[in-house]
Amino acid sequence: MNVVQKIQELKKEKNAIILAHFYQIPEIQDIADFVGDSLALAQQAATTSADMIVFAGVHFMAETAKILNPDKLVVLPDMEAGCSLADSCPADKFGDFLKLYSDHTVISYINCSADIKTMSDLICTSGNAIQLVESFPKDEKIVFAPDKNLGGYINRITGRNMVLWDGTCEVHDILSVESIIKMKIEHPDAKLIAHPECKAQVLELADFIGSTTALLQYTSKDKSLKYIVATETGILHKMKLNSPEKNFLVVPSDETCSCNDCPYMKLNTLEKLYNAMLTGKPEIILPVDVMQKARKPIDRMLALSVKL
Ligand code: 13P
Ligand code: SF4
Repeated sequence: MNVVQKIQELKKEKNAIILAHFYQIPEIQDIADFVGDSLALAQQAATTSADMIVFAGVHFMAETAKILNPDKLVVLPDMEAGCSLADSCPADKFGDFLKLYSDHTVISYINCSADIKTMSDLICTSGNAIQLVESFPKDEKIVFAPDKNLGGYINRITGRNMVLWDGTCEVHDILSVESIIKMKIEHPDAKLIAHPECKAQVLELADFIGSTTALLQYTSKDKSLKYIVATETGILHKMKLNSPEKNFLVVPSDETCSCNDCPYMKLNTLEKLYNAMLTGKPEIILPVDVMQKARKPIDRMLALSVKL
C-alpha cells in the first residue's frame, strides 16, 4: 500500500476527518475530506462527528478545532507549523496593550493564539471580518488584532477607526508592489486579486480583494482569462482545477525569494500526516479553562456567520 492508501485505511479505522487549508501542498488537498479557508474549516470542525480531527493547516487552526471539540483528538502533522501573524501578538504584550483600551471591544482575527482568543470579545476571519465589524454601531470603540493590514483594510471599507495591533503575515506583507506594477504593465489583460493580509499599496491596486475562498470563487465565476494572484501559492491548485483554461501568475516577494509559499503551511507532508493519524501525535492539548474562555468569541463568530 502506498501512503495515500494507508491514510484512507486509517481514516476508516479511526473514524477520522482530514481538514485541509487551501495553502496545503496539492497531495494533501487531494486526500482531504474538506479543503477550505479558515472560516469554513472552523465551521466544519464545529459540526463534525468524527472521533479524530487531522488538521492539515497551521497551529492556530488546529487549536480552534480543539477548542470547538474539547473531547476529540485533534492532531497537527507538524507541531512546528505556526504562523508569523499569530506569533506577532504575544499574550503578555497584548494584555498590557489592552489596559490602554479597557473600554474597547476586542475583535481578533482567527490567526492568533488561544490565549489571545481568551482576551477577545469576538473572533473573525478574512471571510467575515467586514460583516462582523459592521454588526457593531458605527461609534463602537474597537481594538483589532493582530493583523494591521487586514485591520487597516476594514477601517478604509467601513469608515471606522479601530485601534490596530501592529502585526503582519510574513508571507503577504512582503509581496512586491514593484513587481505587481511591472506585471500589470506586462499583462494588461490580467486582473489583480489579493488577500486582505497584503499591505495597503497592494490592495489599492487590486481588482478584487477577499479570503482564499472568495478569491477562488471569484476566479471561477469571473470572465477574465488571466490573474495576478497576490496571496500564498497553495490556492493555485484549486484555481487551476476549477478553471483549467485560465492563467494564474504568482507575485514574487520583496525579499530574495521569488516564491510566496507559507513556510509553516508547507511543513506538513503526506508522511507526517500518516504518522499523526497512526500515533495520535502530535496532539493539540490545551488547559480546560483556556478552551472554555476562548470558545465564547469563536461561538459568537460562528453564530454571526453565514452557514456553509
Ligand atoms: P483565510 O482566512 O483566507 O483562509 O486566510 C488564512 C491565512 O492564514 C491567510 O494567510
Ligand atoms: Fe500565518 Fe501568513 Fe502563513 Fe497565513 S500565510 S498561516 S497568516 S504566516
